[in-house]
Amino acid sequence: AGLHAVARQAGKLYLGTATDNPELTTTAYTAILDNNQMFGQITAANSMKWDATEPQRGVFTFTNGDVIANLAQRNGQLLRGHNCVWHQQLPSWVTAGNFNAATLTSIIQTHCSTLVGHYKGRVRTWDVVNEPLNDDGSFRQDVFFNTLGQGYIATALRAAKAADPNAKVYINDFNIEGLGAKATAMKNLIRSLKSQGVPIDGVGLQSHFIVGEVPTTLVQNMQEFAALGVEVAITELDVRMTLPETAALLAQQKKDFQTVVAACQAVPQCVGITIWDFTDRFSFVPSTFPGQGAATPWDENLVRKPAFDGIVAGF
Ligand code: G3I
Repeated sequence: AGLHAVARQAGKLYLGTATDNPELTTTAYTAILDNNQMFGQITAANSMKWDATEPQRGVFTFTNGDVIANLAQRNGQLLRGHNCVWHQQLPSWVTAGNFNAATLTSIIQTHCSTLVGHYKGRVRTWDVVNEPLNDDGSFRQDVFFNTLGQGYIATALRAAKAADPNAKVYINDFNIEGLGAKATAMKNLIRSLKSQGVPIDGVGLQSHFIVGEVPTTLVQNMQEFAALGVEVAITELDVRMTLPETAALLAQQKKDFQTVVAACQAVPQCVGITIWDFTDRFSFVPSTFPGQGAATPWDENLVRKPAFDGIVAGF
C-alpha cells in the first residue's frame, strides 16, 4: 500500500512530500509523486517563496507555483503553501530596501495577501511565517524583526488569514521538535499571539534530523503544543547521515523514521507528515551539508530504502 493510504488508515489526514519544478521532467519520479495513495499532500519546495513570487516590488509571478498547485489538484492531493515570510530566498529589494516600519508592514501585507489570495480555496495550510526563532529561543535578527520587532509575525498571520479564511495559518521552524529553549520560545510566542487574538492554527515541526539523533521528547513536546490549542504537523521530515551510507546507518535510519511517525501517531493533534522530498536524487541535504545525504526513503535510483518500511511501521 502507499504511504498516504497507510496514514489515512491510521487516522491521519495525510502523508505528503515536497517537490520542485525542475524535478517534474523525470518520469520515474513523477510516477511516484502523482500516486495519491503514496502521497496525499504536496509542498512546493521553492516556487511559492518570496523570491519566486514577488521578485520585484508589486510584480507577482505565480507560474511555477501554479504548476505545483495544478499538479496537486489534478492528483487530488492537499496543498501546503510555503511560505509568506522568511529570511531566506528574499529578493534584494526587500533585504536592501532600507524601508521604514510603516512601509515594510505594508510590503508584508501586500505580499502575504496577494500570495495567499492567489491560491485561495486551494491550500489547506500555509506556512505563513518560517523560521522566526534562533536556537536559543530569541527572535531571529532578520530584516523583518530588525525593522518591526516581533509584530511582523502578527501582521503576516492576519494578512494571510484575511486573504483565505479557510486556510490554516502556521508558524514553521526547525529545532523545535524536542523539548528545549527554542521549543519553549515557540510555545511562548503562540501563547502570546493567541492572547492578542492573532490567528494561529498550527505549528510546523520541520524535522530535518540526523541518523541516531532524533529527539527523545517528540511526543511530550507535541502534546505541549497541542495543549495551547493549535494543531501540529511534521512539515519537512528527512534523516540525514554522513556518507557513505552503510547497512547499519540505513537500519538506524529506518528506526528513526519509525520513531518520528509513531510520535505523530501518538498525538491526535498531529495532523500529518510531509517528507522534504522523497528521493535522495532531489534532496536538498548534500548541497547544504557537504559530506551528508541519503536522507530520504527512496535512493538516488528511486528504489525504496529500509526507511520506507520504517514509515509504514510507525503508523
Ligand atoms: O533558482 C536557482 C537557479 O537559477 C540556479 O541556476 C541554481 C544554481 O545553484 O540555484 C537555484 O536556486 C536554488 C534553489 O534551491 C532552487 O533550486 C538555490 O541555489 C538553493 O539554495 C535553493 O535551496 C533551497 C533551500 O530551501 C534554500 O534555503 C532548497 O531547494 C529547499 O529544499 C530548501 O528548503 C528549506 C525550506 O524552505 C525551509 N526549511 C529548510 C529547508 C531546507 O533548507
